[in-house]
Amino acid sequence: MSASPRRLVILISGRGSNMQALAEACRAGRIPAQVAAVVSNRPDVEGLHRAAALGIPTAVVDHTAFPSREAFDAALLEEVQNHEPDLVALAGFMRILTAAFVSPLLGRILNIHPSLLPKYPGLDTHRRALEAGDREAGATVHFVTEALDGGPPILRVRVPIHPDDTPESLAARVLAWEHPLYVEAVRLVAAGRVRWTPGGVMFDGAPLPREGLEFTGTPL
Ligand code: GRF
Repeated sequence: MSASPRRLVILISGRGSNMQALAEACRAGRIPAQVAAVVSNRPDVEGLHRAAALGIPTAVVDHTAFPSREAFDAALLEEVQNHEPDLVALAGFMRILTAAFVSPLLGRILNIHPSLLPKYPGLDTHRRALEAGDREAGATVHFVTEALDGGPPILRVRVPIHPDDTPESLAARVLAWEHPLYVEAVRLVAAGRVRWTPGGVMFDGAPLPREGLEFTGTPL
């Protein structure tokens, strides 16, 4: 990675609340990075308006305009590379990425997923956790590989499930934890404390546990 501050590009598809949490933490100096751009695969989403209001450059690469996933990924990669990112954060980005996008950026792409991975990759995580009778839910920030929600976890937070929870009430409780969780994970990677190496992910010079680190609300 180049000298500080790191350049962070954030990919979104919708609301953009995680993007906003990251952008505000960068601006406040809590993450040693600056948001170089916010890129959406959907035009006119709330997250683009939030980014513009924060004075962050925005771009749209509309996936419906491309004949194949590979063509979209190539165009997305070009847009992202134009901003010379040290790090790329997927924040509610709802497209599956192929090797065409992931390989050139391997070890520099993070994602946040609203479950305790490896449980419940993919969609509908809160409904699935409730249907399974789980007592706790959570969220995970992980490095992105070609495996959907399958790259190495960096940081996870556990969130209690209440007996009267609906998918919506649980999603809201988890989302409130996602924001500080993502800020802490990006901070650790931007500061070089968590590093992707060919032999595995390292934390402060030692191998990271397979399920990632545990976040309880206080900085590591
Ligand atoms: C979050 O729950 C995130 O974990 C999931 O999609 C949601 C995005 O929310 N992948 P927002 O766009 O960051 O508000």
